[in-house]
Amino acid sequence: MLTGTSLLFFIMQFIRFSDLCASGAAANKRVFIRADLNVPQDDAGRITEDTRIRASVPCIQMALDAGAAVMVTSHLGRPTEGAFKPEDSLAPVAARLGELLGRNVPLIPDWLGGVDVAPGNVVMLENCRVNKGEKKCDEALSKQMAALCDIFVHDAFGTAHRAEASTYGIAQYAPIACAGPLLAAEMDAIGKALAAPKRPLIAIVAGSKVSTKLTILEALSSKVDGLIVGGGIANTFMLAAGLKIGKSLAEPDLVDAAKTVIASMKARGAAVPIPTDVVCAKTFSADAVATVKLATEVVDDDLILDIGPQTASLLASQLMQAGTIVWNGPVGVFEFDAFAGGTKTIAEAIAKSSAFSIAGGGDTLAAIAKYGIEKDVSYISTGGGAFLEVLEGKTLPAFEVLAKRAS
Ligand code: 3PG
Repeated sequence: MLTGTSLLFFIMQFIRFSDLCASGAAANKRVFIRADLNVPQDDAGRITEDTRIRASVPCIQMALDAGAAVMVTSHLGRPTEGAFKPEDSLAPVAARLGELLGRNVPLIPDWLGGVDVAPGNVVMLENCRVNKGEKKCDEALSKQMAALCDIFVHDAFGTAHRAEASTYGIAQYAPIACAGPLLAAEMDAIGKALAAPKRPLIAIVAGSKVSTKLTILEALSSKVDGLIVGGGIANTFMLAAGLKIGKSLAEPDLVDAAKTVIASMKARGAAVPIPTDVVCAKTFSADAVATVKLATEVVDDDLILDIGPQTASLLASQLMQAGTIVWNGPVGVFEFDAFAGGTKTIAEAIAKSSAFSIAGGGDTLAAIAKYGIEKDVSYISTGGGAFLEVLEGKTLPAFEVLAKRAS
């Protein structure tokens, strides 16, 4: 696992596109921006959520304002390389970007051989994941992309955990490789939360299964002052603490792993708070009757669907004392109102806390939106898998290659 120092090294050592623009170094230059415009679409191809497109605008606008000739590309979905299908097209994304920028954004279908774009203009290069060799970071493809530009800008934090031709390979061979404002902001926020956190540092790791987040729990257990677990993960930790959980979702084969996390936290004088009360139902449904019980009173046919009010208020007061909060995952089935109390209390505590808070992950973002606390979380990450890999302590390929190119 990365130590605080090495994580900080990777985060700090990179060239910022904003600095290049401010110094005039981007004027009349060919700038290739790798964004993450991988947005959800409905069956008719309409974009259903455009956060990532909106998040890409500052970088593109910065390049245009600096007088660069701008090419922007992204992957969309997981298409088959070399077999472009109409549904793989970035056409709806180019149209939405055009609306946001207030200008036409032409879409270039075949672009590896050369791109015609003048300074002060922007074009979108069709889905880069359709190019053969993209996934495997093929050297020839990477060099072909690098030859298109003077400056490569990585602004796709959502793909920072991927080492593909358009994210990693091009960064190796482009004359200059730097971080766009979105990637730089993510790097800065991650550095603030994990490399040099204001203490106490409290992490909330919740979700349905320990198995999908075990490496995160293990990595954080050597770093944080408090590790709040929630959802199905908390159920496995309750089993590890000797409590009954009825027929709740849990992974009994990971009870020993949970015990190890608890012991490693305890050895450092830190804690994994185990719920003292819970909200139970007899069925998993929105209209199930919700019953608050002490954690010691759960019976065989109970399903634990949320932490109880006593636990939620204790955790909220811990969060209010925190210097830094890292949030990944709702602590209960917040989609059902009767089982949303725990997540709501946690969300409101994070919103009120003066701690530096960073949140990421699809469900977490949905909870933040539900409780309207977007403006009260210090930083909301655009990364899904990338954010989780950061929490695991991995060095993301984007951080690594940009650090290498800056040295
Ligand atoms: C995401 O949606 O998390 C990113 O766009 C990365 O997509 P991928 O998992 O298909 O690489």
